[in-house]
Amino acid sequence: MSDNQKQFDAAIVGGGVIGCAIAWRLAQGGMRVAVIERGDIGREASFAAGGMLVPLAEADEADDLFHMCVASRAMYADFAHELQQASGINVEYRTEGTLYLSLTEHDDEELERRWQWQHAAGLNVKRLNADCARKLEPQINPQLRWALKFPDDHQINNRLLIAALHTAARNAGVEFQTQTEVESLLIESLLIESRAGRKQIVGVRTSRGEVISKTVIVAAGSWSSLLKTEAETSLPNLNVAPVHGQMIAVEMPSPAVNHTIYSCRAYVVPRLGGFVIAGSTSDKFGFEKRVTAGGMASIIERAKEILPGFADLAVTETWSGLRPRAADGLPVIGADDSVAGLVYATGHYRNGILLTPITAQAVSEIVLKGESGVQLSAFSPQRFARLQADGSKP
Ligand code: FAD
Ligand code: GLY
Repeated sequence: MSDNQKQFDAAIVGGGVIGCAIAWRLAQGGMRVAVIERGDIGREASFAAGGMLVPLAEADEADDLFHMCVASRAMYADFAHELQQASGINVEYRTEGTLYLSLTEHDDEELERRWQWQHAAGLNVKRLNADCARKLEPQINPQLRWALKFPDDHQINNRLLIAALHTAARNAGVEFQTQTEVESLLIESLLIESRAGRKQIVGVRTSRGEVISKTVIVAAGSWSSLLKTEAETSLPNLNVAPVHGQMIAVEMPSPAVNHTIYSCRAYVVPRLGGFVIAGSTSDKFGFEKRVTAGGMASIIERAKEILPGFADLAVTETWSGLRPRAADGLPVIGADDSVAGLVYATGHYRNGILLTPITAQAVSEIVLKGESGVQLSAFSPQRFARLQADGSKP
């Protein structure tokens, strides 16, 4: 091995919440793990998020993604506790629940539809009249018609989650290589009876040298589809692209808001320490992360519908991030069919913070045991290639 080569049992491309959580679990399983991150740890989508753990507030139907989100939500209390033990960092897991407001006749229909399917499915959703909802949150719009409450849709502080995962993984022995870009995946053809047979990942080439590893996990968020190989091996098209979202934080002195509050057009999320954050937008600006005047104006307008006093509050921060979205909006989790040792964990789109515990469990089981108990067939990395072979468009 040359001076600029390092050897690990697993190399992870990308140090967002997904890469860090997988690294932590693999190191707990006894592996020597490297996380290779182009910038600083957790400064992309994972930093930009709202930290909401809200499958009921965001789902339109009980599909595969919804079931995975609910399963991950159920893991969160223990996950947050274990992380605190391992890192000494409290991720501010909050259980006040989420309110969803109806402010117009059109909203009535949307909330009614949501109530019907969720109630019929036996999910924990409650109808509140305007007085009840305003007793819970006196600062919400007096024009409120009625509301839903999702008592089990909780939240954490995602920036503390990054810090906790980073510390826990480091304490477990993970090596973080920051300011280091993965330039290509290194793949070898295995010769079987003198013929080229199955392919094997053997590491990654980075801007600082080679990392040798027989397991490589692609957790590169919105950039996952850009990774190249040096061998004549084409990777499955993951179809992951960035969806730009903007956020604003304002100071909110007491009486503070306690619940995450949705309308059909925006959400506001309380943070400890007298802040609320509001979002978001959804645009295709490529990989550019500008904060736009129009984006801010529309978030403020829509946040005012929820909290009429919002526009008078002092702005402390504005930012944007890139949600990693696969063409069908579902995550991409699982092993590559044709390259042994190559595993994907990306495309978490609007739910990557929520899906962190279950993704880390699924991927670490695949790597450590060869298969996972988590139901992953809908999220297969091969699904787009299959669609192409069938002649259907993803
Ligand atoms: P990222 O955090 O983007 O991390 C990927 C990392 O890979 C980056 O750090 C990047 O630098 C690195 N990388 C890429 N290419 C390379 C390379 N070649 N070499 C080395 N490193 C590389 N989810 C929720 O569950 N709840 C929410 O409330 C929520 N709110 C959101 C609000 C907004 C405005 C946005 C933008 C997203 C929100 N999300 C939310 C979604 C969530 O943030 C993402 O799904 C999640 O953060 C994805 O995590 P990740 O680790 O896959 O990606
Ligand atoms: N899940 C919230 C967002 O992506 O904006």
